[in-house]
Amino acid sequence: MGDDALIEAVRRRYVEVNGKHAMTGADDAYVREHFVEATPEAMALMLDDRLPLPSYVLSDGTPMVPADHGRLAEVAGGLDALHGWFLAFWPDDPETGEAEWGHYLSGQYVCLEEVSPVRIRQKAARVAEASAAVEILRRDPHDEIGRGMIGEAVDGVLAVPGLDALLLPMTAYDRLRLGGPTVRETWVDAPRREFLTLVAPVWPLRTERLLLRPFQAGDEVAMAEAWADESYASLLLTGTQNPAEVAEMVRRRSDPADGMFVGLVAEHDGEVVGDTILVLQGTGLTEGEIGWTVMPRHAGRGYATEAARAVLRMAFEHYGLRRVVANLDARNDRSAALCERLGMRREVHRLGDFWSKGRWTDSYEYALHRDEWRAQQS
Ligand SMILES: CC(C)(COP(=O)(O)OP(=O)(O)OC[C@H]1O[C@@H](n2cnc3c(N)ncnc32)[C@H](O)[C@@H]1OP(=O)(O)O)[C@@H](O)C(=O)NCCC(=O)NCCS
Repeated sequence: MGDDALIEAVRRRYVEVNGKHAMTGADDAYVREHFVEATPEAMALMLDDRLPLPSYVLSDGTPMVPADHGRLAEVAGGLDALHGWFLAFWPDDPETGEAEWGHYLSGQYVCLEEVSPVRIRQKAARVAEASAAVEILRRDPHDEIGRGMIGEAVDGVLAVPGLDALLLPMTAYDRLRLGGPTVRETWVDAPRREFLTLVAPVWPLRTERLLLRPFQAGDEVAMAEAWADESYASLLLTGTQNPAEVAEMVRRRSDPADGMFVGLVAEHDGEVVGDTILVLQGTGLTEGEIGWTVMPRHAGRGYATEAARAVLRMAFEHYGLRRVVANLDARNDRSAALCERLGMRREVHRLGDFWSKGRWTDSYEYALHRDEWRAQQS
């Protein structure tokens, strides 16, 4: 077959398998930048169902493939070995093996970071999980099973890669080729926007004696004296801080990048008496870590307890968290007493794990589960 006939045959096969997608001049330029022309040898193998079809066909009919087209076959030890490799993943189910091989040959899996039977299988599983999670979360955005599933599907969990890690960041590709939103847009970007993007409550929060509001410029004035005090800072994660450092901390906290850090200043009668922070983390953003300080001259009045109770309510009711934890230096008796007052359980006592100000010290992790918190309210 001459080159022109080869090109025409490949183009026809491409349209049969993937449909026809009009390419603009800009699309052509984009594709030329990221892909290379298929060689006649590669095209002959495509027509034989032994190499994936082109990723794109340019508006003048030129079939384009990724620069590493066929590299997987080399890695597998040849095209037959590659075919065998796909089938071997489904030893009791040759039909699925052949179907997956067909998907691979369609060229549609170029959207994967790494094309292999394992990755194809993982991608299919994660897409199914994300789709089921979205259905559950549309009914109840705080559903704990749905949140676990969306977290795993999009971000992954220990030893399970999520779609974000499996798919190539370059997404224009499958939109052009498949004529619709990309897998990344549908199952990573949209669920992340809808379910994994945090929306803060309306500020301020009010309690019996306190007003809790985000950090703002000027708060450093009220905090500088405490942070310069060795005994105050002795059990904190950081050492003492000078006024410039406190101002920088206030600046960072008043402009948090992604909504996962919620820092609130507590005021009583217009005076700053302390602060509380909540950092959202964990699979599907279902856990929060809480922290607190009270200015020394306002200690012993229950302000930290009152502020923390409001933050726990926000954590469980507004953000729908499942757990809130507090990590502290085991020598921090007042902080531990505060955890106990809040009904938190000491879940972990770590021996000598915490390097703080020139020595190793023990640390505690206290935790409160949503069900325990609900039981406290009744
Ligand atoms: C940890 C820290 C916030 C605890 O402060 P605190 O003053 O002990 O806590 P509260 O503001 O909740 O006050 C509780 C005390 O007020 C008393 N109190 C008075 N009125 C009260 C009220 N209306 N409600 C509750 N408690 C009240 C309580 O009995 C308790 O006193 P006690 O400790 O003598 O039993 C404070 O020690 C601190 O800022 N330390 C330095 C920073 C730090 O270590 N942060 C934690 C890092 S993990």
